[in-house]
Amino acid sequence: MKITKQDLSQKGSSKNLKKAQKWEKRMIEKGHYREHFFKAFADQINKLFDTPITVLEIGSGPGHLAERLIQTNKIKKYTLFDLSKSMHQIASKRLNKYQSITEYKVGSFLEKHCFEGLGQYDVVVCMQSIHEVRDKTLAVEIYKNIINVIKLNGYFLVCDFVIGNPGMKDTGMYMTEAEQKDTLLKSGFTSAKLITNQLGLTLYAAQKQ
Ligand SMILES: C[S@@+](CC[C@H](N)C(=O)[O-])C[C@H]1O[C@@H](n2cnc3c(N)ncnc32)[C@H](O)[C@@H]1O
Repeated sequence: MKITKQDLSQKGSSKNLKKAQKWEKRMIEKGHYREHFFKAFADQINKLFDTPITVLEIGSGPGHLAERLIQTNKIKKYTLFDLSKSMHQIASKRLNKYQSITEYKVGSFLEKHCFEGLGQYDVVVCMQSIHEVRDKTLAVEIYKNIINVIKLNGYFLVCDFVIGNPGMKDTGMYMTEAEQKDTLLKSGFTSAKLITNQLGLTLYAAQKQ
């Protein structure tokens, strides 16, 4: 389901909106590490493509990564996909001046047909969202779904926390750097290259060939 202007004006529940706003505030105040990754996403995409591209962001949240990529990269269409209508509300405010190239879809990446009707993209990006399912063994199926919405020779750029120090402790929820690579390759990507590993997070670029 695409979110129209009317959908956005209907809003998520005020409780969910407050929760989403609280998360965003925390990220703006404490997520200093994110700048490194925003830049890494933008630089990597600029290295890979020199013509205007289409981008799908999975678990797009308040639209911070979207804003950066739209401002620094050549983008002709940017689709934001998230479970939360409240997050889309925040993102659509932030990206108001880019309405001609942005679209919003509400859905869960855990559902097999969640991307139906979206078409295929040059790049799918995802930041700090895959761990949200709280079970790393589900990532293969999620990535198998994602690969279907990527054009041939397109890329999946995925950033998330890793097990380690610095990093996370919950081995059921988070992957090691090697598991992240393995999961991408098991899902059908032909290559998975570590772009950067900083402060307990990694960014991988995986290609579909
Ligand atoms: C930790 S936030 C990260 C948001 C954004 N990527 C960022 O870095 O600013 C995780 C986001 O994933 C979304 N999310 C969680 N589970 C999801 C699912 N099953 N399908 C789609 N989105 C999901 C949440 O609503 C939230 O917006």
